[in-house]
Amino acid sequence: MVVDLSKRVYKDKQVGTATIRELYSTEKVKTRIAEMGRQISEDFQDMERPVVIGVMKGAIFFLSDLMRCIDTKDPLQLEFVRLASYGSATESSGVVQTPYLDLPNIAHRNILVVEDIIDSGRTARFFLDYLRGQFDPKVLKLAALLDKPSRRVTDLQADYVGFTIDDLFVVGYGLDYAEQFRELPFLGELVQFG
Ligand code: IMP
Ligand code: MG
Repeated sequence: MVVDLSKRVYKDKQVGTATIRELYSTEKVKTRIAEMGRQISEDFQDMERPVVIGVMKGAIFFLSDLMRCIDTKDPLQLEFVRLASYGSATESSGVVQTPYLDLPNIAHRNILVVEDIIDSGRTARFFLDYLRGQFDPKVLKLAALLDKPSRRVTDLQADYVGFTIDDLFVVGYGLDYAEQFRELPFLGELVQFG
């Protein structure tokens, strides 16, 4: 689903000095995540001991909703990493940093990586390559709440995407602007700051 800015009426929300325009309400996000969960459940249904790896910090709310919508024969194992590509508040630097990359031995397992958003694609590219090199997974899939395909600099496609959006800067539901607004219970475009 692509957001067509010309055809929607948005609610604006003031948070401190920022204006945030709602793109997807809490209800829409939850409904979409439930659909993703159903699809993932089907795909992972008969896979042995699936592992879900959440990429901190942005993915936490999505991850927690999504996992509770996944129902597979074998129980899920949950792991976390923290990846960052520091740069300005709205542009990543392109260099992926690994503040926390401490995974148990998950060699040859069936892995689902959960990301908040795929922008340039560098973070996901780095992490998928890392997992392949370290653990030679049997299955390696990527779920992202948001996808901005127009920004891609690397050839990468998520297997499960919540919403495909234009080149907007989005906050809420775990996504931040300079570490702010992660707690907003909806997905919104940061239209003005300060
Ligand atoms: P990529 O490596 O360029 O794909 O970017 C990945 C990271 O940049 C995401 O995990 C986010 O932390 C951040 N990012 C990219 N676009 C946005 C956005 O619109 N809002 C908030 N964070 C974003
Ligand atoms: Mg992130």
